[in-house]
Amino acid sequence: MPSVPYVPSQLLFGGDYNPEQWPRETWREDIELMRRARVNTVTLGVFSWSRLEPSEGVYELDWLDEAIELLTRAGIGFFLSTPTASPPPWFTLAHPDAMPVRPDGTVLSHGSRDTYAISAPAYREASRRIARVLAEHYGDHPGLRGWHVHNEYGTLDHGPHAAVAFRRWLRERYGTLEALNEAWTTGFWSQRYGSFEQILPPRTTQYLDNPAQAVDFRRFCSDEMLAAMCEQRDQIRGAGSSAPITTNFMLPTWNHLEQWSWAEELDVVSIDHYLDTPGPDGEAHVAYCSDLTRSWAGGPWVLMEQNARGIIMADRTHAKTPGRMIRNALGYIARGSQSALFFQWRASAGGAEQWHGALVPHAGGEDEQFEPVVELGCILEAISEVTSPPADGVLNPAEVGILWHADSWWTLETPSMPHDSLTYREEVRSAHRSFWRAGIATDVVRPGADAGRYRLLVVPALIVVSDEVAAWLREYVEAGGHLVVTYLSGLTDEHQRVGLGGYPAVLRDLLGVTVTQHLPLEDGQQVALSDGAVATQWAERMRTRGAEVLAAYADGPVTGSPAITQNRLGAGRAVYLSAHLDQDSRDAFLLARAQAAGVSPVVPGAAALGVEAVRRRGAEADHLFLLHHGREDVTVHGTGVDLVTGTQLPGRTDLAGGTDRRGGLHLAADDVAVVRVPRGGGVELTAR
Ligand code: GLA
Repeated sequence: MPSVPYVPSQLLFGGDYNPEQWPRETWREDIELMRRARVNTVTLGVFSWSRLEPSEGVYELDWLDEAIELLTRAGIGFFLSTPTASPPPWFTLAHPDAMPVRPDGTVLSHGSRDTYAISAPAYREASRRIARVLAEHYGDHPGLRGWHVHNEYGTLDHGPHAAVAFRRWLRERYGTLEALNEAWTTGFWSQRYGSFEQILPPRTTQYLDNPAQAVDFRRFCSDEMLAAMCEQRDQIRGAGSSAPITTNFMLPTWNHLEQWSWAEELDVVSIDHYLDTPGPDGEAHVAYCSDLTRSWAGGPWVLMEQNARGIIMADRTHAKTPGRMIRNALGYIARGSQSALFFQWRASAGGAEQWHGALVPHAGGEDEQFEPVVELGCILEAISEVTSPPADGVLNPAEVGILWHADSWWTLETPSMPHDSLTYREEVRSAHRSFWRAGIATDVVRPGADAGRYRLLVVPALIVVSDEVAAWLREYVEAGGHLVVTYLSGLTDEHQRVGLGGYPAVLRDLLGVTVTQHLPLEDGQQVALSDGAVATQWAERMRTRGAEVLAAYADGPVTGSPAITQNRLGAGRAVYLSAHLDQDSRDAFLLARAQAAGVSPVVPGAAALGVEAVRRRGAEADHLFLLHHGREDVTVHGTGVDLVTGTQLPGRTDLAGGTDRRGGLHLAADDVAVVRVPRGGGVELTAR
């Protein structure tokens, strides 16, 4: 994680700005509008390579100098991107070997973006060069808030350069060919390799890939992209620039990075996040993204992009209401973001993303749609004190940890898993969603990290569990922790090899159970549990080996068999959930586990009133973010001041005295409040 927390002097507000798409008159109008909305930060140059280096070795920075000059005079800072996510046409034509190759051998061409072979020497060389040129020119600019290296690393290449680099990576990982053959179980289907040169990246083949090869390739791609990022970072530092360096991660539908190792190499972790659901679950999604990112960062982080106006679904972009735009922007900040940045400042008139929402819509800055942008700018200014972190670095105190590791995502993505519709992404997210619905704060935890501060640790679908991670989980329980492990966890080691003798081999003793058979359910099939829960999609046949049964299957393929168990060990307990519960049942199950572990919601009763309450600790005080996603008006009482409206809350004694309940702070649907309270202080919410 970054060694020093990223603490800007104010909450960063603005977004991607592409002046090269517009005439100079528009630049001047942009600056006026930015000032009106209190924009203080833009991201420049994300896809500007062809304008910055129109032909190899020829640089044209004057236009960017001019734009930066205008911004700086207006007091607006900038992240400067290295433009390497979109090599220009001249590069492709000069280096056709640096184009990415799909598994089926298709070589991609320019015409879109993100078209590069990450391992191609010509691409790496050109990337280092442009990073150096920019760093030498802008590295000590007073308006520079940070470096934004590349954009959303994530193009996988299966071509000849990737093959060479993959073999090099495999030699380092395994040392000998024997070790690799063993790890990849190449005894199956005559895959035994006689030399490293025989090994290929996974390419289109007759039938199923080797899963160990597939997951190693994903790990290699993450490491290779990280090496490319570090090379650019080193060029920037080599040129003498000391500005913080980041690269923007991306979630939630695809994942090409092992985020924990990336975070170690960055000065600040940043992420782009686009809602994928128009309903209230979108709010849970904001929280999920934020908790993940804060946990990877180990502290404050930057929300680099969000969509001001749209929720992108497969068939169309659903409109985001202005109120939701503001609530969501504050949702990220509540959970550690130091920014509310958007893609993009002004909606493009042409190009592939001309219909993507922006802070300035096609209708222009005089349109009423711009007013909520101005309102957000005012709110961010009013709450800016939240950026200072507490001395102990714990921004959002959480008593629940949820394990996360990309290895399990990638393993569950390999074909022919026990159930190909159960995805790591949804398993983790549905656990997180349960706690969000209960108003309980959560962190995400790296396997093997210090978990002592969590009363409850949840392990959803962590299919890859090494002996070391299993021992670490055991230590956690013996020391008094409450552990919940779900189906699909601990089935394989780090080489996707199944532990024998009953599932989940490495966790059997810890859980006190042996699972003997996986029983995926038919679509639409429901199985009842004895505690009233409903299982869909997945059940298991298991027997206990010392664990007590908390619930049994009440019907279905293994009626009467244990479904949920609890094993007491040392000072703690380990609960095993063998069935995929529908979301309501999962909520009830996890809430019961949280209560048993002594975990409390941030503000008791808030979630039931439709208010998301998040405690963000600051240098001097705590800030309770109250985001009203519900419909009915609520009143807030307590000791504190709402920074958004400047309202001083009436104290608890007024409430205890039963006096004026109409006093206090009132929140209607869509309202937000950020209440500064004394350290550890709370508020009370009542229906109005
Ligand atoms: C990504 C990119 C942006 C833009 C948005 C919207 O996050 O970084 O450049 O393309 O998606 O699609």
